[in-house]
Amino acid sequence: MIVLVAYGSSGGGTGELAGWIAEELRDSGLEVQLSPAGEVGDAGHYGALILGSAVYATGWHPDVRRFLSHHGGQFAGKPVWLFSSGPLDTSADEGRLPPGHHAQEAVRELAAREHVTFGGRMTGEARGWLGFLARRMAREGHAGDFRNPDRVRSWARDVAAQIHSYPAS
Ligand SMILES: Cc1cc2nc3c(=O)[nH]c(=O)nc-3n(C[C@H](O)[C@H](O)[C@H](O)COP(=O)(O)O)c2cc1C
Repeated sequence: MIVLVAYGSSGGGTGELAGWIAEELRDSGLEVQLSPAGEVGDAGHYGALILGSAVYATGWHPDVRRFLSHHGGQFAGKPVWLFSSGPLDTSADEGRLPPGHHAQEAVRELAAREHVTFGGRMTGEARGWLGFLARRMAREGHAGDFRNPDRVRSWARDVAAQIHSYPAS
């Protein structure tokens, strides 16, 4: 089966994180398509989904929300995992954070096996609308990279193992 790893990202941090996940899945022998959520065409041929979003103002990225309304139905009965990347501190690594409202809805609609929150990244170097807000947040001391590649990769290896044992798992 082909596994789709799709993500919504404005500053690139979640996209890179999705790339780590795709790498681990490929290393385990799976065939993987890595794609921004806004660029996915027909999704019917994918056998499993890992969908992740940056969190802005407590919500999921608009590309991910559009992906869900256009393609969510095509993953009925297929294994789905979800992740958010947001907190600009170490809270995501210190314990399981509750899913935000969009993540909760998606867990329900897709009957997802799991939702996990990973730390986020924000630099003062972002451009456009994001740059303006990011620079302000950076001045307030919120900049930094709180993604944890080891944790992300270890989660991805666990997901890969579950996909390999599907449908038995
Ligand atoms: C304007 C703004 C609002 C944000 N709001 C939240 C939020 O509500 N919750 C959260 O966990 N992270 C929030 N973040 C942090 C982002 O989710 C984090 O920087 C994330 O890694 C961005 O991912 P991206 O680079 O893929 O766009 C916010 C960041 C910015 C710049």
